[in-house]
Amino acid sequence: MPEVVVHGRKPDVWACGYCHRAEGTGGPENTSLAGLPAAYIIQQMADFKSGVRKTSVPQRVPPATMIAVAKATTPAEVEAAAAYFSSLSLKPLIRVIESELAPKTEVRGWHLAALKGDEKEPVGQRVIEMPEDLEQFVSRDSRSHFIAYVPLGSIQKGKELATTGGAGKTVQCTICHGPELKGLGPIPGIAGRSPSYLVRQLFDFREGTRAGISSALMKPTVEHLTIEDMIALAAYAASLTP
Ligand code: HEC
Ligand code: HEC
Repeated sequence: MPEVVVHGRKPDVWACGYCHRAEGTGGPENTSLAGLPAAYIIQQMADFKSGVRKTSVPQRVPPATMIAVAKATTPAEVEAAAAYFSSLSLKPLIRVIESELAPKTEVRGWHLAALKGDEKEPVGQRVIEMPEDLEQFVSRDSRSHFIAYVPLGSIQKGKELATTGGAGKTVQCTICHGPELKGLGPIPGIAGRSPSYLVRQLFDFREGTRAGISSALMKPTVEHLTIEDMIALAAYAASLTP
């Protein structure tokens, strides 16, 4: 494991593994990196660094810190981290459950956690993603698993949009992200990844806050998507094996 992943470099380069976990499994507050193409990782670091990849919610500390970390990295550190994370394969970590109700949660740090007891609340048009085992998750264990509650019918709706383009509403994701959305060449896989992260990215592409070098390819696919469509696409992608 490269030094930059384990320890980072004081004072500004935080260890990548601190947030993305040692095995690149990530969490809903950031993202998994395991198995992403090395060229893609290098390009995203350059986009964060140059300021073209931003976030629609700049007051959220995790992406703000990511951008600060990227700015402080050297090309050699980025290459080492990219080679390491791309050599790993992402394990299936997320269970996507369509449901009218989800356990009542609270915001803890930068993630949701189920409250004690068995109180439930309507999912509504939301993704309620939480660690299965809170202790394991906050200990930054790469073996942490997650449950994502999504609206009823969203997986099928997402599948239709992803595979047919929804009669012109969007472009078939499978053309670029591969038939099973596991990625194609330098294009990242989106199968089995955090649905909260995926919705945030679709939103950022649509709003233009994520405007990296290759984001022009995503622009036509997101232009006419509603939040409900984004949730459906994310629910479907997250439900697939990475
Ligand atoms: C403070 C926590 C934190 C640290 C430390 C951190 N990241 Fe991140 N990283 C994030 C967050 C949060 C995002 C998602 C940003 C967003 O929402 O746009 C992210 C996104 C990324 C992405 C984009 C992934 C994708 O699928 O597009 C890459 C690549 C990345 N990080 C690499 C690194 C590397 C390499 C390091 C170590 C040098 C690192 N990160 C350190 C929090 C962190
Ligand atoms: C014409 C090719 C193309 C099509 C069609 C396409 N994508 Fe993408 N997608 C890309 C490229 C290229 C990137 C990387 C963009 C960048 O570097 O900023 C990307 C990135 C993404 C990301 C961010 C992944 C990450 O790791 O941060 C998500 C989420 C995504 N696409 C979802 C979708 C969905 C859902 C669809 C279908 C509705 C779709 N894409 C259709 C080319 C495409």
